[in-house]
Amino acid sequence: MTPERSPQRPDRNLALELVRVTEAAALATAPLVGAGDKEAADQAAVDGMRYMLHSVQMDGVVVIGEGEKDEAPMLYNGEQIGDGSQPQVDIAVDPLEGTTLAANGMPSALAVIALSARGTMFDPGPCVYMEKMAGAPEIADLLDLDRPLGETMRLVAQRKGVPVSDVMVVVLDRPRHAEGIAAIREAGARVRLIPHGDVSAALLAVTERSPVDLLWGIGGTPEGVISAAAVKCLDGQLLGRLWPRDDEESAAAREAGYDLERVLTRDDLVAGDDVFFSATGVTDGDMLEGVRYPSAGGATTESLVTRSRSGTIRRIRATHDRAKLRSIGGERYSRQQGPAG
Ligand code: FBP
Repeated sequence: MTPERSPQRPDRNLALELVRVTEAAALATAPLVGAGDKEAADQAAVDGMRYMLHSVQMDGVVVIGEGEKDEAPMLYNGEQIGDGSQPQVDIAVDPLEGTTLAANGMPSALAVIALSARGTMFDPGPCVYMEKMAGAPEIADLLDLDRPLGETMRLVAQRKGVPVSDVMVVVLDRPRHAEGIAAIREAGARVRLIPHGDVSAALLAVTERSPVDLLWGIGGTPEGVISAAAVKCLDGQLLGRLWPRDDEESAAAREAGYDLERVLTRDDLVAGDDVFFSATGVTDGDMLEGVRYPSAGGATTESLVTRSRSGTIRRIRATHDRAKLRSIGGERYSRQQGPAG
């Protein structure tokens, strides 16, 4: 007789608390969407996120944050967050992923956060960029950063049982991708160029029934770690390889012990088996609706909230009362725009 596996008792799902954190960042940023000021939008997001983050009981350390302490007074790498109670966690934040998108009122700006057990998140050190490839579970084993891109297009099409011309790859629109884009197109596949926001693109690439099959290209390393956390929760795959910008960065990375040839999987980037992720839309995108103001005093948000251990994916739509939030959290929640001048 096989002994029955003793089921674990349900425990706290931190992601359900994190959604308030990303909602707060998105709500704080929304009044500045389209205002053309990247710094102000980012600052509002950081302020809103940090304000709510303190309500989460945990012993957290920011591993992926806004940068070094001197340049980032809040949510800097190494900052301790929470009241010091269990659990001990690593925190990765991007209060406003797509600062330019938000400043210009363009699609797919997000507020995002990921948490996992202490010591499980990859620290990118001096490397600002990494090459990334991400896809859904059904093509996870086909991802490869060394195989020619055209060949991967053919394999993906074969696996999906579709012509190569059906395959769509999302790529950041950057001159450094010219060769890769040409290779994808030569193979007959299609390219969706985006101006910014490869976290949102990674989410799209690993989501079922999405218009995109793969993410490829060189983007931010912090965004790579955050994407890996999300991809892990959604059971997809993300591969990354550090991409130093010049010899100096390369030397600094090698000096610090980084292997620049190594292909990192989502589990190398976020090693824990209990990862929590939350994203709230700031502006409308394929993944999430942005903050909307359906009435003078109201606001709505849409968030994606996931946990790797349970595999539960929640979409949370919330209605907020801006006047009440203002009375609790001050202007950060919903700046009242006075008449110009
Ligand atoms: P920000 O929100 O910090 O502006 O980052 C946006 C972004 O597009 C990321 O999504 C992406 O990983 C990175 O910038 C790409 O960097 P670059 O614009 O230097 O190519």
